[in-house]
Amino acid sequence: MQQAEPFVRYARLEDACAIAAITVEYASQGIMLERSPDNIVENIRNFFVAEYNGEVIGCCAIAFYTEKLAEIRSLAVFNQYKRQGIGRLLVEKAEAILHEEGVCEVFVLTLSREFFSRLGYIDIRKEYFPQKIWKDCTHCPKLMACDEIAMVKIL
Ligand SMILES: CC(C)(COP(=O)(O)OP(=O)(O)OC[C@H]1O[C@@H](n2cnc3c(N)ncnc32)[C@H](O)[C@@H]1OP(=O)(O)O)[C@@H](O)C(=O)NCCC(=O)NCCS
Repeated sequence: MQQAEPFVRYARLEDACAIAAITVEYASQGIMLERSPDNIVENIRNFFVAEYNGEVIGCCAIAFYTEKLAEIRSLAVFNQYKRQGIGRLLVEKAEAILHEEGVCEVFVLTLSREFFSRLGYIDIRKEYFPQKIWKDCTHCPKLMACDEIAMVKIL
């Protein structure tokens, strides 16, 4: 039976492999960092998925840095579902949760500038977010040739 609309929900442990598969697809293109199923399981409470007809078709995660600052990361939508509003649904869900938690500033490190711009994010210097740079970027294969830009939105 066809499900009426895609929807976004908190990820469950059983989604870990599906989420990992989405990140592998884009990591192989150098667009995002790959997340292993084990790593996703460890962080499962921070993940959301978009579901359609019982399948996981997109994902994103939130990471908290201070009481007021968080990041939206690991955002991806399977190729065949792009440009149908799924990415927007995922980001809006993450923003709503962050807002409820009292977070007022959310940032992304991304190559998808146009997408985040449509959602109200603006460019900002990466150095504005030192915690993030030191925590994750040191493990990134592109460390010395980073092409991502930082963008921020006040919630
Ligand atoms: C970035 C990504 C998540 C966007 O998901 P999506 O479901 O295609 O995006 P949506 O359909 O919700 O688009 C929302 C808005 O952004 C626009 N948009 C989306 N992708 C765009 C692009 N590549 N260029 C320009 N505009 C874009 C849409 O037109 C839409 O605008 P509108 O609502 O004003 O019409 C998806 O392209 C993706 O998975 N990319 C690969 C992984 C990646 O780059 N992740 C980001 C890491 S932070």
